[in-house]
Amino acid sequence: MSEQNPLIVIVDNHKRSGQLYSVGLEAYVGATVVEFGLIEEAVEFLSSNSPAIIITRGLFDQRDAGVKFAQMIESGNLKIHLIVIGQTKVSIHQATIYDENVEVRDIIKKCASLLGVTAKAMAEKNVGEYYPIRLTLLCPNLSLVCPVYKKNAEGEYVKFLDVESKIHPEILTILQSSGEKEIYVQAAHRLKFVNSISMFLAEMMADDRLSLEDTIMLSNNSYNIVRDSARRMMISPVTIQATEANINTMMSITGKIPKLNQFLKMTTSKVNFVFKHSLLTCFVASHIIDKMEWGTNDQKVKIAFVCFFSNLLLNQDDYILVHSKEDMDLMNLADSERENIINHPINAAKIMSKYYNSLPFGVETIVKQHHGNRYGNDFAQNPSTISPLALVYIISDEWVTLILKAEKRKLPLTRAESLSIIKNKYKGMMFQEIIGALNELTI
Ligand SMILES: [Fe+2]
Repeated sequence: MSEQNPLIVIVDNHKRSGQLYSVGLEAYVGATVVEFGLIEEAVEFLSSNSPAIIITRGLFDQRDAGVKFAQMIESGNLKIHLIVIGQTKVSIHQATIYDENVEVRDIIKKCASLLGVTAKAMAEKNVGEYYPIRLTLLCPNLSLVCPVYKKNAEGEYVKFLDVESKIHPEILTILQSSGEKEIYVQAAHRLKFVNSISMFLAEMMADDRLSLEDTIMLSNNSYNIVRDSARRMMISPVTIQATEANINTMMSITGKIPKLNQFLKMTTSKVNFVFKHSLLTCFVASHIIDKMEWGTNDQKVKIAFVCFFSNLLLNQDDYILVHSKEDMDLMNLADSERENIINHPINAAKIMSKYYNSLPFGVETIVKQHHGNRYGNDFAQNPSTISPLALVYIISDEWVTLILKAEKRKLPLTRAESLSIIKNKYKGMMFQEIIGALNELTI
């Protein structure tokens, strides 16, 4: 990084989210980023450095870091823009304030606009032939999407890890102990590489220090990243890795939260609507499978995959509430949008074929059938020739959709009412058994 790069200070006690911001800010905004995990350390740094932007978490070790930095900027009459993420008492005249679940790309966009950096300028920025990546931004076990280089004593760049190899923890230790501060990628690969680190970090949710809310937030961010890749039909090894980790997280969240109401409370307005729907459906379906005589753990894993993929390719979040042609008619949609809704099951199954052998057997078929049609290109009211797991998904999806519709429209809906709607719509032995299990769900 050259000295002309604008300086951004990040103050965050969550190491991984701090890393997540800095890696994007360095590559996309061309900033030099300095991270601090403690308020005092940042304050000391600021006494002799003047960054363009400070990004801080609001409530921090039970103190309002937003207020602390706002006061510091005001009393010193400093020309520093303050961005506060999460709860704070700072006023909107003192800082740009974001909800704690803000997406990383929104922060990056904001910083780029504050610094007058355009996306085009950054993509075209001449950063030399090789681009440095701070060693501290590398994650153990990251799969490489491009070759990685080291600079030798003569100043030459020497390839030391090839594309698709992994950064083993021992390699990081060796690099650190030999005093290396940076590794390099070819400049043309830098955004791809940085994206892969971002996705990987967003998936490092096994960190014990992360609260369930933080886990849901990070999971939501990575869901969006995978969704962007899926829409562009670009499924890389890193996307596959991110998908697997995200599904693991969905299952672990489902296992940790015993009641639906608690689940609803934690996801209200905090996460993307489609992801919220996927998470809730996974929760409901998984609990139904628990109650079924034929239910196994393997099926719970499969249904989590189904919940993740089923609606990944819907163009608009609201389309998730569409369950029939009549619903579509009410929305007055263009033909292309109707086609997106009608075909989203078969299209999701097609994107899954790009995951090769990394999916459990049969999940593509269930995704294709998740609206009750065998071929994934229509809605069906009374499916009789589809797999039992698809039927579990259909009932779970129907119930979650009713709950979310009522929540969105602020309409009261009792459990008895929702169950009665579902019973009237879905007849037959198998459906009755599933609805019976749904009835036993703890809310
Ligand atoms: Fe769907």
